[in-house]
Amino acid sequence: MSRHVPGPRARWAGAGAALLLLLAGLAILLAGYGTGMRLTPCWGGCRSGGELGTVLTALTPEQLSIVESGRWWFGHAHTLREGLGPFFNAQSCLECHDTALEQGAPRSVPGGAGRDNQVGPFHTQALHAGRTDPDGTFDGLIREGGEVRHQRTIQDLVPGCVLPPQTVPPDAPFVSPRQAPPLFGLGLIDAIPDEAILAQERAAKPDGVRGRANLGPAMDPFVNDHVVGRFGWKAEYTSVLQAVADQYFVHLGMTSPYEPMEITTPRYWVPNAPAPQISELPEPCRQALAWPYEANAKGEVVLALAEFVRALRPADPTPSPAAERGRQVFAETGCAVCHLPSYTTGPDPDAALANQPVPLYSDLLIHDLGPANADGIVAGLAHGSDWRTTPLWGLSHRPYLWHDGRFSAGRDGILGAIRAHGDEAAVAVERFAALDAADRDDLLAFLLAL
Ligand code: HEC
Ligand code: HEC
Repeated sequence: MSRHVPGPRARWAGAGAALLLLLAGLAILLAGYGTGMRLTPCWGGCRSGGELGTVLTALTPEQLSIVESGRWWFGHAHTLREGLGPFFNAQSCLECHDTALEQGAPRSVPGGAGRDNQVGPFHTQALHAGRTDPDGTFDGLIREGGEVRHQRTIQDLVPGCVLPPQTVPPDAPFVSPRQAPPLFGLGLIDAIPDEAILAQERAAKPDGVRGRANLGPAMDPFVNDHVVGRFGWKAEYTSVLQAVADQYFVHLGMTSPYEPMEITTPRYWVPNAPAPQISELPEPCRQALAWPYEANAKGEVVLALAEFVRALRPADPTPSPAAERGRQVFAETGCAVCHLPSYTTGPDPDAALANQPVPLYSDLLIHDLGPANADGIVAGLAHGSDWRTTPLWGLSHRPYLWHDGRFSAGRDGILGAIRAHGDEAAVAVERFAALDAADRDDLLAFLLAL
């Protein structure tokens, strides 16, 4: 999905430009409040960081202003003039990442706006597809518009433009609906050193659990300080910046210095082939894309979006005696072998992120969960049945569980998710099934309090 595009990690660069963008957007933002956009404004309110949807403490005023600009862009419905399309899935990040957290509300509201934008049988917002080529390699449909299918095109917005959305080619057997994860705490995960995850990969593990770090040449085209994948359902992204730049490109069709080439026709980026050109698009679709968008061309919007995501603070667990007992049962059952209780961040230029505990309940490694969970999609070192251990922090705020959103939140959904683990998790799941009722209830109380 991502490509090799060298570029510096210019965090906080372009602060002045981001501020200008912020001011430019302020009027539209105020207008947006009347139209159902439920973002909590940061001005003054984001500093203290006590509630979900607020940002980490210890941000400088300069950082806060970039974060606020990023928050604005996150909810903004992008226009043609700003570079939307030609193929896209949504006009804003918030259309898919719409849990309460991103809206700044204290608890999640199952069935938010974007949750109706279903592309699979469950509550999913994106569709990945692919096939195995005759030589045995995975093909993420790179000649047909890419692995992530685009449900919309600018034909919805440009009179006379005929540009049908992408479907799944009949000879692509792998179809993988994915839900958009909530984005809380990602800055802390970003700041975990590669070495800590690699040490966890090497550590001896009981119960036949293996676990691999997702890394390789396909990873990390943008940043030089991480090579270990940690974001995305298959740990296919190494950093928040990489994830955000790719999401901006893949779902909104927004190019940037990080993702400079347009998806034009069905054609997409192919190694060693000429880049697709806007000129390949039919008229009058092409004319609608003729405006260059300066701010985005310099990457400031991507940086502001990334800083907003990095600044979102994680949820606080709700302590109780049952939850405390359940934490113990969780460890004894073998869940914590993969759902590692915590990592610690390394030194980081951001004081808010440096040397912090990260109680995420994930090892950030990919694990084989067996054929029942195989979607056939390859991402870096992750194969069809490999998935990243989902961080369980904030579980009680997630409206749906599992990569394809097949379980609802709450006790029954959690029980379903536990039963759905296979292969590497089989021993832990068997142990869970053998727990007496009191221990099982404590374990669930622990999870529901996260
Ligand atoms: C059409 C729906 C959709 C839109 C729009 C969208 N995303 Fe996503 N996002 C997803 C899905 C689905 C995933 C999971 C990707 C995968 O399969 O690994 C994801 C993953 C992410 C992740 C990694 C999260 C994690 O915990 O691993 C980040 C960060 C992210 N998105 C940010 C953004 C930003 C910023 C925008 C706007 C520029 C955006 N997304 C727009 C659907 C969407
Ligand atoms: C071998 C590693 C492993 C073990 C052991 C394991 N898990 Fe998981 N867990 C995962 C992976 C990988 C996923 C992501 C599955 C997916 O979405 O495809 C996951 C997902 C989950 C989810 C769904 C989270 C969400 O938001 O979608 C819950 C809940 C969960 N695990 C709880 C548990 C419990 C409780 C135990 C112990 C009985 C356990 N897990 C044992 C690897 C493991």
